[in-house]
Amino acid sequence: MKTRFVIPEGRLKDPSIRLLKRLGVNVPLPSGRELVVETEDYIFFFAKPFDVPVYVEHGIDLGIAGSDVVEERNCDLFIPLELPFGRCRLSVIMPGDHVVKVEEMDGFRIATKYPNIASRYFAGKGLDVEIMKLHGTVELAPKTRIAEALVDIVDTGRTLRANGLVEVEKIMGVSAMLLVNRIAQKTRFTMINELVMRMKQLLKEGTS
Ligand code: PRP
Repeated sequence: MKTRFVIPEGRLKDPSIRLLKRLGVNVPLPSGRELVVETEDYIFFFAKPFDVPVYVEHGIDLGIAGSDVVEERNCDLFIPLELPFGRCRLSVIMPGDHVVKVEEMDGFRIATKYPNIASRYFAGKGLDVEIMKLHGTVELAPKTRIAEALVDIVDTGRTLRANGLVEVEKIMGVSAMLLVNRIAQKTRFTMINELVMRMKQLLKEGTS
């Protein structure tokens, strides 16, 4: 039986493919809008990053996703390994000319792709905020005045600078993770364990 692996589209795609290549696993590039490619031993699926944990929870053997997405989706998964790429942070962000402390954000409207993480974070601080779920380009929310602040990824900080925004507080550090389906972890233990061990060894050697 072929191993089924979900690769995230977007910024984690290339480093994921590079890591697999170093393990001797070649991922053929899909042509056009193809979402599935097969090799002799693997079937690769290309999915939106936010959906990778869902596919792995529901039956795909393996996948790679950011810890931000894993936390937000809260899926039942086995996560044996943090991977050395996709490092960034999830933060509370505000327009640079209206900065206040997080503690002063009671009653604020918060735009985000991460409603679960954001809700928990503000509730944990005893703050009553209105969470506004958006699907991307969240930086527009304060510009259009539909929200006072946002919760989003900061990587290079370029997006913030380009839009006159500043990072008020970091919520969590983010990194790519290897995800394993809980049933596959048991029924395909030998194959998965070997892959994880080889990946661990490779990362230890610092050749990631
Ligand atoms: C993420 C995030 C910011 C940007 C931050 O968006 O939402 O917009 O990257 O990166 P930077 O600090 O290096 O500028 P992404 O490109 O993943 O796409 P999205 O806007 O569609 O969510």
